[in-house]
Amino acid sequence: MSKNILELTNVTKNFPGVKALDNANFKLKKGSIHALLGENGAGKSTMIKIITGVYKQDFGSLIIDDNKQSFSSPNEANKSGISVVHQERNLIRRFSVGNNLPKNNLGLINYDQVAEQSKKWLDIMELDIHPNTIVSELTVAKMQLCEIAKALSLESKILLLDEPTSSLSPQDTKNLFSLLKRLVKEQDVSIVFVSHKLEEVFEICDEVTVLRDGKNACVSENIKNLDRQKLVKLMIGRDEQIIKSKENKNINKENLLDLIKINTDLGHKEISLNLKKGEILGLYGLVGAGRTELIKCLLGLDRIISGKLVLNNEEIKIHSPKEALEKYKIGYISEDRKKEGLILMHDVLTNAGITVWSKLKKILSFLNNGIIYNKVDPYVKKLEVKTPSYKQLVSNLSGGNQQKISVAKWLAAGTDILFIDEPTVGIDIKTKAYLHELIINLSKSGTSIILITSDMPEMISLADRIITMKDFKVVGETMNNHNYDDMSASIMANIHE
Ligand SMILES: Nc1ncnc2c1ncn2[C@@H]1O[C@H](COP(=O)(O)OP(=O)(O)OP(=O)(O)O)[C@@H](O)[C@H]1O
Ligand SMILES: [Mg+2]
Repeated sequence: MSKNILELTNVTKNFPGVKALDNANFKLKKGSIHALLGENGAGKSTMIKIITGVYKQDFGSLIIDDNKQSFSSPNEANKSGISVVHQERNLIRRFSVGNNLPKNNLGLINYDQVAEQSKKWLDIMELDIHPNTIVSELTVAKMQLCEIAKALSLESKILLLDEPTSSLSPQDTKNLFSLLKRLVKEQDVSIVFVSHKLEEVFEICDEVTVLRDGKNACVSENIKNLDRQKLVKLMIGRDEQIIKSKENKNINKENLLDLIKINTDLGHKEISLNLKKGEILGLYGLVGAGRTELIKCLLGLDRIISGKLVLNNEEIKIHSPKEALEKYKIGYISEDRKKEGLILMHDVLTNAGITVWSKLKKILSFLNNGIIYNKVDPYVKKLEVKTPSYKQLVSNLSGGNQQKISVAKWLAAGTDILFIDEPTVGIDIKTKAYLHELIINLSKSGTSIILITSDMPEMISLADRIITMKDFKVVGETMNNHNYDDMSASIMANIHE
């Protein structure tokens, strides 16, 4: 029996109005991979932050390698051999990738060394990025991989990974997992792994701890004693709700939005596709297929070189997302919530109101919080956003709850067309089912949706029709019959043709 390298005993952490951890326990065995699970707001990130000295617990103890520890800063935790990838990515966006990797002991940057060291970790992660690339130019997935490379470069004995795979492609995830397994086997590293993707947990984890409302639903349970059903029950306190396949809707035959032979500055070639009223059109593709980039070009964030964009049989030109919303009632739920979706220093209500406000201000000369509240509250309730009040700062919400606000405000905004990019990243399995229901209802009530998701089951349960993209081109189109085996086979055939 290997010993515990890390132990939390009866740890409690209070925030104003919230008990984030309530007498919680956790034990990490040396040389194991341990899943830390629970719904959005259950207390996972808070636990990680207590271990790494970001927060101090109100009660309870932290023991590392048989020594009682209390780190007063993340730096101290680092020095004791703990590295962490936080859920909110911590890279400094205007710095280069290399400069985001650690400095030497004196805190000085030796640029040659930085380039050399970062190259080593970027290579191990199979990341084809030059160390001098500016971080803000990277996609969310690449940023996530750099963040992981940064944590690995410290060569720590304990590695804490808070939703490291949320934005990664299946291939990147596979590479990461083989790397983690190697670290455990060859260097006896101990790993804590947070994820909402249960398949991943069964693939790489040895033990599981589940939190529910800050309390333990289980502590260090051997994964062999659990199956998906049991795990879900521990997390949400009841059985999983399986989303029913969608019944056929009456989709209008006429095209609402037409893309005709669009070529873009970013390299899209002759993209032609159409979206009908009340339809959910899925865009499937591997990372790098150019889906998010296509949406950005449609919204005027990058240039369309040639081709036509036609709305209601009239050619239009969109210069900015603001114009898309105000003039054409087209909304955009971005995959990069931090950069484009939320204002973290503002409260929940203000964030929820940002889009609705743009729409309503034309009708009303003034807009009060009551109106925003009435519009958004049903969505916030349905998605079970965990917040003590609407006055809470969004930065104080858990990652998944921030995501819910960012999606809820758009669902409430009442646009005619909605571009939705990776809506359920970081959202727990229970809320994911509710969110799917909301998206389906929205389309039934006439909203037309272009949905980008890398989650194949999500695509197959939501989309009416699926367009497959590869290398910035459309390579296939299939009506969705909602049969998983059929659909995933035909989509993958398009990709590999
Ligand atoms: N700095 C803070 N101030 C106030 N409340 C906070 C703060 N940090 C976390 N909380 C609250 O503590 C609870 C637990 O949050 P935590 O981030 O640990 O959840 P989580 O399990 O990581 O959820 P997710 O899956 O959404 O990331 C939440 O209700 C959250 O709003
Ligand atoms: Mg979290």
